[in-house]
Amino acid sequence: MKKAIVFGATSGIGKSLTEILIKEGYQVAVTGRRLDKLTALKKQYPASILIKQNDIQDVAHVEKVFHEIVAEFSSIDLVVQSSGVGYVNPKLEWERQKQTINTNVLGCTRLYILAYNLFKKQQFGQLVGISSIASLRGNRSAPDYFASKAYQKAYLESLYIKTKSIQSKKVYITEIRPGFVDTPMALGEAVFWMVPLEKAAKQIYTAIKKKKRVAYISKRWSLIAFALKLMPAWVLKKVL
Ligand SMILES: NC(=O)c1ccc[n+]([C@@H]2O[C@H](COP(=O)([O-])OP(=O)(O)OC[C@H]3O[C@@H](n4cnc5c(N)ncnc54)[C@H](OP(=O)(O)O)[C@@H]3O)[C@@H](O)[C@H]2O)c1
Repeated sequence: MKKAIVFGATSGIGKSLTEILIKEGYQVAVTGRRLDKLTALKKQYPASILIKQNDIQDVAHVEKVFHEIVAEFSSIDLVVQSSGVGYVNPKLEWERQKQTINTNVLGCTRLYILAYNLFKKQQFGQLVGISSIASLRGNRSAPDYFASKAYQKAYLESLYIKTKSIQSKKVYITEIRPGFVDTPMALGEAVFWMVPLEKAAKQIYTAIKKKKRVAYISKRWSLIAFALKLMPAWVLKKVL
């Protein structure tokens, strides 16, 4: 039986993807801060779920939880890092920015490294990071979020490059770049091309199966990505 860990499985993309993985026969370890949501998942899928409450801002605890899961599962095929926060914060209030940095950068990096090192030791496995279309450029109302996603994008690409040194060639790094997905996380008021959550989760699972390096969710967001990459900053200043 294949084994997966989904970080940030209490809601949204992580939860929907967990449900798909279970239907596909995986055993899944799920994490997040909200114990009631984890317990509800366990109740729904008692034979397939291992729950571990954690706050990824506490990196020592992340390490402990990660090692506990590996000890219980003995090997891991897939790690999905879906935990994340983001706030519309035009006044740049520090407490919110700190939350974003500690979650999306600090905790996330610790998870990436733990997964990468495990897969290197096992000589197989797939790390999937949920970044964002936001990874491509800056933004006036949520600079910390956009910068944290650019960081994730660069880190995942770095790990991909690093897999060159893994002899088996069976370690895969996948970066998922959603546009707007219908969860409480969809930032701001000018939301368009919103992808229903279930559709997004299905597309993400397809990208995982195909061992994609990068996937936009949905595919048409790759058109926006193309335009964003070309756009000079002065145009962004006018339109965003
Ligand atoms: N929805 C969108 O439009 C969209 C677009 C682009 C990218 N994304 C990215 O997709 C990922 C998933 O977001 P979502 O849309 O599914 O939103 P969501 O429903 O709010 O899910 C976020 C998940 O992250 C977990 N989390 C947040 N802070 C955490 C912490 N300190 N420790 C542990 N877990 C934590 C939450 O669990 P607890 O609250 O229980 O801790 C929850 O399970 C995020 O990385 C987000 O940036 C989303």
